[in-house]
Amino acid sequence: MLWALALGLLWASTILAAPFENKPRQKVLLISFDGFRWDYDRYVDTPNLDQMARDGVKAMYVTPPYLTITSPTHFTLLSGRYIENHGVIHNMWFNTSTQEKKPYYQSQFVNEWWDNGSLPIWITAQRQGLKAGSLHFPGTASSYQGQVAMVREVEPLLYNYKNETAWRENTDKVMGWFRDQDLDFVSMYFGEPDGTGHRYGPNSPQIRAMVQQVDRTVGYIRQTAEHYGLKDRLNIIITADHGMSNVYRNGLVEEITLSKIPGFSFKDVSFHLVDFGPSGMLLPKPGRLDKVYNALKGAHPHLHVYKKEEMPERLHFSKNGRILPIILWADPGYVINGYFPVQFHKGEHGFDNQEMDMKPFFRAVGPAFRQNLEVGPFETVNIYPLMCHILGIKPEVNDGHLNATQHMLVTSSGTQGEFYQANEPPPWP
Ligand SMILES: *[C@@H]1O[C@H](CO)[C@@H](O)[C@H](O)[C@H]1NC(C)=O
Ligand SMILES: *[C@@H]1O[C@H](CO)[C@@H](O)[C@H](O)[C@H]1NC(C)=O
Ligand SMILES: *[C@@H]1O[C@H](CO)[C@@H](O)[C@H](O)[C@H]1NC(C)=O
Ligand SMILES: *[C@@H]1O[C@H](CO)[C@@H](O)[C@H](O)[C@H]1NC(C)=O
Ligand SMILES: [Zn+2]
Repeated sequence: MLWALALGLLWASTILAAPFENKPRQKVLLISFDGFRWDYDRYVDTPNLDQMARDGVKAMYVTPPYLTITSPTHFTLLSGRYIENHGVIHNMWFNTSTQEKKPYYQSQFVNEWWDNGSLPIWITAQRQGLKAGSLHFPGTASSYQGQVAMVREVEPLLYNYKNETAWRENTDKVMGWFRDQDLDFVSMYFGEPDGTGHRYGPNSPQIRAMVQQVDRTVGYIRQTAEHYGLKDRLNIIITADHGMSNVYRNGLVEEITLSKIPGFSFKDVSFHLVDFGPSGMLLPKPGRLDKVYNALKGAHPHLHVYKKEEMPERLHFSKNGRILPIILWADPGYVINGYFPVQFHKGEHGFDNQEMDMKPFFRAVGPAFRQNLEVGPFETVNIYPLMCHILGIKPEVNDGHLNATQHMLVTSSGTQGEFYQANEPPPWP
């Protein structure tokens, strides 16, 4: 009994003392390669991604939240919340009464759009005494409850997202932030292979070349981390926001064009978001909801039509005032056109997150992670609690669970997070 007590005290003192010993806090670099589908590495030689898998953890794939488009899914990475819970429900800010819409880039600067009740990890980390930064990651330009990431860089309006030299310069910059400014967390974004996937399609030679560029960059990132003396403290997580799927047209399929659907009229709609890949939302005029719904439901075999409150629960895309009363989505291969076809991409995303083509990749390497471990799929809401755990910070309320990823972590010599349970305050100020 006494012996057990003594052992308990010894244990407690070891555990509690550990964060204050000279073991430095672990760092996290979260990287997104926009639109990197889970299986892109199957068709190309990717020596650096393969080496990273041997040195760390590779997930078979991860499941993004619905709607599978860039800003909403990135904000899920940063907050651990489903899209209906964080409120960044679209790439485009819009106002249904004034009919205003802002495109992707301009929407980055609308604070009220991003700051809708959920805090990104930068702010949470900073409030708990850590230092955070972000380079080009969606959401970086906005402030949250008046705060921003302490070091940040937003790309200019006309930015060449494909420039490999710039990718290397950005890598050097971020590693400098970790080394010279001692940042604990940085999120970093690359706009490819999304752009190439849209333009040429996910099965194109162009996408294979871009995947090789990503692979070279992954090698460069790891080499630079080592060169900057960060290898023993830096955990690198590489993932993406969504995948990419081929679009069929040119007479191959019957396209979905809303204006051609019998009984449907844009005159019954006061606001719409269509001509945006495979997804759409409509705000019918007062009293016309059922008319619009009944006209569209079942009108095309590859068009799904839902009233907001009837959305399948698994999509977590319903309970938010910003989501419009009628939600549309198309099956892979199809996009939703309004008056007439105006979309000419060969690849698209925005489909159901159950579709394998929408799944991104996931890789992680660093002192917190086990080596040469391949794990099954998990949802990307779980990446947030994982990062908070490694950083040793208390997460905000979120929709993820550490138990979905805990098996990736080394248990012995590990992370600050082991010293307390996620729902308790950390034992240091
Ligand atoms: C939309 O615009 C109207 C009119 O300017 C304004 O009253 C309303 O607050 C705006 N709504 C949003 C969500 O920005
Ligand atoms: C979120 O945005 C909506 C308008 O789109 C607004 O009514 C609501 O108050 C916002 N909530 C928070 C917590 O900012
Ligand atoms: C690529 O980036 C480098 C470094 O920023 C720059 O000097 C070069 O002009 C860029 N090239 C293109 C084609 O944008
Ligand atoms: C993780 O914990 C949550 C909440 O306790 C539970 O709902 C979920 O099934 C668990 N997941 C796994 C993978 O164990
Ligand atoms: Zn994207």
